[in-house]
Order: sequence, then structure tokens, then C-alpha cells
Amino acid sequence: MRLVAVDQGTTSTRSLVVDASGHAQIAASVTHKQYYPHNGWVEHDPDELLKAIKTCLSAAGQVDAIGLANQGESCLAWDARNKRPICPVIVWQDNRTASEIEKLKAEGAESLVQSISGLPLDSYFSASKLGWIIREIPAARQLAASGHLRLGTTDAYFRDVLTDQFATDPSTASRTALLNLETGQWDESLCQLFEVPINCLPEIQPTTGELGICDLSGQSTPLAASVVDQQAALYGHGCRAAGDGKITFGTGAFALMLTGEKPQLPPNSGLLPTIAWQHHDAAPVYALEGGVYTASAVISWLERIGVIEDLAALSQFAGESPMRRGTVFVPALAGLACPYWRRDVRGSWLGLTLDTSRDDLIRVALEGVACRSAQVLSAISQSGVALNQLGMDGGLAANTWFQQLMADVTQQTIKVPNLAELTAAGVLALIADAMNTPLTITQKTHQVSPKQDQSDLIGILEQAIALTSQWPTSSTS
Ligand code: G3P
Repeated sequence: MRLVAVDQGTTSTRSLVVDASGHAQIAASVTHKQYYPHNGWVEHDPDELLKAIKTCLSAAGQVDAIGLANQGESCLAWDARNKRPICPVIVWQDNRTASEIEKLKAEGAESLVQSISGLPLDSYFSASKLGWIIREIPAARQLAASGHLRLGTTDAYFRDVLTDQFATDPSTASRTALLNLETGQWDESLCQLFEVPINCLPEIQPTTGELGICDLSGQSTPLAASVVDQQAALYGHGCRAAGDGKITFGTGAFALMLTGEKPQLPPNSGLLPTIAWQHHDAAPVYALEGGVYTASAVISWLERIGVIEDLAALSQFAGESPMRRGTVFVPALAGLACPYWRRDVRGSWLGLTLDTSRDDLIRVALEGVACRSAQVLSAISQSGVALNQLGMDGGLAANTWFQQLMADVTQQTIKVPNLAELTAAGVLALIADAMNTPLTITQKTHQVSPKQDQSDLIGILEQAIALTSQWPTSSTS
């Protein structure tokens, strides 16, 4: 038995192949272009993403089943007849619908959205992006009128092209703000609110099972799992019971903890109830999620502007944190998500002096990301379901200094697997479980325990956030 999982993420697409012995290896990794056509807009080229998926699948060779992990929330529209996209992918980070969201908030729509979908009103989720496509792209309206429009998250587009089935899974659907979280079905009143024609949305199928056949390079292979990437990583960490959690440091940092077979919504926590997955023969499993929009994106930005020249230097900080001397970085380069939900807040360095060094700037940036993540984890651990175990993965999780910092600011023991591709590993495990195939992906895990109490840094960051939140930006002034 050979399986492949393709992880189509925000900055790249990777495939991980596993054989019957549990040995997993990366078959291919392809980066794609990020487009920033206007302030706050983030787009991907759907053709480029699809090509990357096909490259990753071909590199895997012959396999018995395929699984797919997709970016959450990112969405597009295409023509049902020829499957040609009629717009770019509007990426989860994109904030083009900020004014529409403000208008809906002013009309008092937030309680309706929250009570049905569990989610706050924010441009992060697909609903307002899909509504924007309908309003702003004439071809979308024409296709809707003739009954040929398809709207969906990226998984629905890939699945339509690769398997000829227009479908999504409950985990991805729960990130749109169009799903009734209790019933697991699209909600008519939410679709009306966001002006999204409900009949243009994909069918919601379980996360695992017989999801169609991929015909590629003369081979026909079953698609056996399709799941949003953060939930896949949760599965990859071995999280199966309420209280099991993880945090993934990708473009953003996303923490999830399983809560069981009923959605939980702790009031005023800023957390998101979400569907973790639904096996083909079982009820949906729910989780609570909290995100920080920019984590590794902060590192990429520091590299791009020339502050970081040598990534290896990121593990070599010594001595007391500059945050205790008042130098702080607020990592709000795309606004603040959980628990603030303030898209208008911008990033900042505060408390600079003539002796502030480049290392100080880099170190407080990493500490800012760690403290924001600790805020989210603290909200999760106060949600009413105890956080029993915490795993950590993603690019920044490989940095030993950052691992210790996370343990010290959260005062929590954290499990760190040595396998970098936890999202793809989760997809493989989902397929294996759905097929009742015993499969243990070979990986080692080590535990990082707190060495000193650095939880006071969270309070310092919170003061900086309070100040930065008052700074007028172009969308507030
Ligand atoms: O919600 C956005 C998330 O799915 C993106 O994950 O790993 O592509 O940054 P990643």
C-alpha cells in the first residue's frame, strides 16, 4: 500500500508519500507566486496552484489513494462547463471586503452570523469574498443567471477539475461562514446576507471515503480524503480526544483543540468553533480554533526588507529579553485575529533607542509571535475543555530557541515531532484510518518543558497592542 497526500498551502504545495512500512518522504515541493494587486488584497493564480498539485501528484508515482489538504477560507469562482476560473483565488489573508464587513456589523448582522456559523464577522472567512465575486465580477453574474456558476473554496475547485465532482468537506465548509455548524448544511439566511447564491455552492461530503477518482497521466486513483490544512495537522499530531491540541507555525499560527461531538462556543473568547473532520461513517468531530494571521510571514517580511540576513542566527539569542527593557514588536502585519478580530490594527515596533540592535528587532519580533500565540492558547485552555496535550509544528517549530520560548511563555510542556510535514501526515493518517489500514508514520517526538517563567512577556505585548490599536490607519482615519 502506497499513499500520497498533497498539502496545497498558502506559500507552497508539497506531496508526502508513505509506504506500507510507515516510511514517509517528500515527493515534491513547489512554491507559487503571491499577488498583492492593491493594499490589503492577496491573490493566487488558480492555474498555478492546480499545476503545482499535478506536479506533486506525478512526482509521487503510482499510489493506491490520494488525499488533499487545502488552505482554509481561500476561494474562487469558475465556469461549470469548462472548469475555467473566472477570477483569481482570493486568499484567506485578503481584506478587500473590510468595508462590506463594517457595513454588516453596523446593520447588526454579527449576532446572526455568530449564532449560525459560530464565526465572527470578518473578511478572513470565505462568505464576504464570495459575495464580492458576485457583486464585482460581471462574468460571475452572467454565469449565475445561466446556471453555470460554481463558487467554492480551493478544494472544491481542485476536486471538480481532478475528479469531476463538485464537492467540499465539512471542515473546509465550516471556515466559510455560510455553514450551519449544528446541521452541517449551507444556511440559506447566511447565503442571502452575503449575497451568495446557495445553488452555486459545492455539495458537502464527509472528509474521508470514496470521494471520486483522479485521472492523471493515464492513471486512475481514488481520492480518499479532502480536509482543510489546519485540521489535517491536528490529525497528524495524533489528536483524537477532546482536550488534544496543536499549534502550527505556517504563514500564520493556528491553534486547534478537539472539543468532542458538539460545537462549543465559549462566550466572548474570540475563539472559533469549527468542524475538525467527519469520517465517512461517523458524526462530525468539533474543535476550537484561534489564529495569529502572521507568524512565519513575519520572518519572510524581515528577510524581504533585509533585517534578517542569516536565518541560522535566529537560534542564537542570549540573555534577558529586550521586551523587559520596553522594546516590543506587535506582529499584526495583516491585522489581529483571535481574540481581538481587529483587521485595521497594523504591526509596530515600540520602544526603540539608540542602542537597539538588529538582533533586538528580530528577537522581539519572534517573541511577539510567541506571545500572540500564547494568548490564543490561553483562551483555548480557558474554554471549559482542559487542554490535555499540546503539539507544535511548522517552520518556526524547528527552531530550538523558539520551542523553548513557547514552552516558557505558555508554561506548558509541548510535544515537537521531527517530521516537518504534519499536515500531509495527518491526511495520510485520515486515509489509512478510513481504509482500516494499519499505518504508523515513522517519526520521533520530543518534549520541551518550561525552563523559566516568561509568561510576563504576554502582559508586555498586551500593553503594546493596546497602544498600537489606537493608531489611526488608512481604513480607520
Ligand atoms: O486559515 C488559513 C490556513 O488554512 C492557512 O494555512 O499553512 O497555508 O498558512 P497555511
